[in-house]
Amino acid sequence: MTVENLDIVIVGATGNLAKRKLLPALYDLEVQGLLPAQGRVIGTARSPYSQEAFRSMAREAIGAEARSAWDDETWAGLAARLKYIQLPDGDLSQLRAELTQAERLIFLAIPPSYFGSTARGLAEQGLVEGTRLLIEKPFGRDLESARDLDRELRSVLDESQIFRIDHYLGKETVQNILVFRFGNAVFERIWNRDAIDHIEITVAESVGMEGRGYFYEEVGALRDIVQNHMLQVLSVLTMEPPASFDAEAIRDEKVKLLRAVQPLDPANIVRGQYTRGMADGREAPAYREEENVAPDSDVETFAAAKIEIENWRWAGVPIYLRTGKRLPFRSTEIEIAFKTVPRTYFEATPVEHVSPNTLTLCIQPEEEITFSFLAKVPGQEINVKQVSMNFSYDSAFSAEPAEAYERLIHDAIEGDRTLFVRADSVERAWEIVQPALDNPPPLGFYVAGSWGPFESDELISPLTWHLR
Ligand code: BG6
Repeated sequence: MTVENLDIVIVGATGNLAKRKLLPALYDLEVQGLLPAQGRVIGTARSPYSQEAFRSMAREAIGAEARSAWDDETWAGLAARLKYIQLPDGDLSQLRAELTQAERLIFLAIPPSYFGSTARGLAEQGLVEGTRLLIEKPFGRDLESARDLDRELRSVLDESQIFRIDHYLGKETVQNILVFRFGNAVFERIWNRDAIDHIEITVAESVGMEGRGYFYEEVGALRDIVQNHMLQVLSVLTMEPPASFDAEAIRDEKVKLLRAVQPLDPANIVRGQYTRGMADGREAPAYREEENVAPDSDVETFAAAKIEIENWRWAGVPIYLRTGKRLPFRSTEIEIAFKTVPRTYFEATPVEHVSPNTLTLCIQPEEEITFSFLAKVPGQEINVKQVSMNFSYDSAFSAEPAEAYERLIHDAIEGDRTLFVRADSVERAWEIVQPALDNPPPLGFYVAGSWGPFESDELISPLTWHLR
């Protein structure tokens, strides 16, 4: 079912997020006939733009970033509903006059410090009823500011009107974790402390600041990736089976899981910052040499942590999180290492050399699932070697997965909140990382293009990171 009547408003329509993600996602939805039949797409920002200039900016952004091939007719359909309005000083009075429908999505593609005042502005214009507000992380910069932001938003809007985006939840492969776990009887039986030795979650990026130094100086890896993307993925991976696949049933289980995650212990955290090195085959500057970064910055571009989930399913299973900029390559993956065999019968391979079974859920850039196990090497003697079974989205399905924003905007149009983050979950995630923000461990340094400071290897000792 597609919603018929809805205006879509992007506040901050000339910024980076709108150009790289939102406008291209709207075009991809138009290609699939998934935009509401009636309603405008209204872009607003502070700067003056003619309708023509705005359309041509949108056209360029879509040409560069959309997933679907360019199609003149589709563009004409989208362009016919595009409208730009300049809203100087965030004054929303003009917006009301341009809306054509009783309901609207309003996407705040603006700095979080303006979320509260924009929500109040909507209330002043009598635009609360019929509005679904989409906001993007970071939701605050610590527990206290997250609570303040929430109070501000909730003084105007009901929780059911707030759609908090963590774009990792929109990724096809993250959603597939639910199907993998709950659509197959076999895995759920071994998804626990009896069978699993440890879990590693890695979000590695090879890029550096890409002109985002100003933003990153305020954030760092713990706030940028651990508090949101990693804890959200972890909760989908380790939550209990929900009572149903309803949004609230799933969101209840996710927050219940986060409540069992112990707040980060600064002794089990490693913070790092990259120095000059090589990245993607080219010389890369140190973080402190990046544009808009203080020459003595203490901000971490790498974070690794060992955490525990204190519940019956997971007690005693260490979970290792690791993320960083300027690591050797881009990869987001989950590695589940099962317990090793209690003894071995293979004389040539002592038990400590028998590799455990592992299940690797690769989220990007390759979208695949790999199970590794031992096999006998052909020959007269019993020699064993690790081999693998692999499922790849590419070869199993001919369709390319939708972009996260495409999925999330579509769900917001439909009013489906499953993949959006609820306030209690945001707050709990801040409670988990807060000790690391209050008492940050000293910074270690790593050469750009390496796997982070050596201290992160000690964290996982005597194991070694799967990706290294
Ligand atoms: C964003 C972070 O939320 O996620 C960025 O602010 C990061 O720093 C990005 O690069 C990673 O997203 P993806 O989808 O490319 O893994």
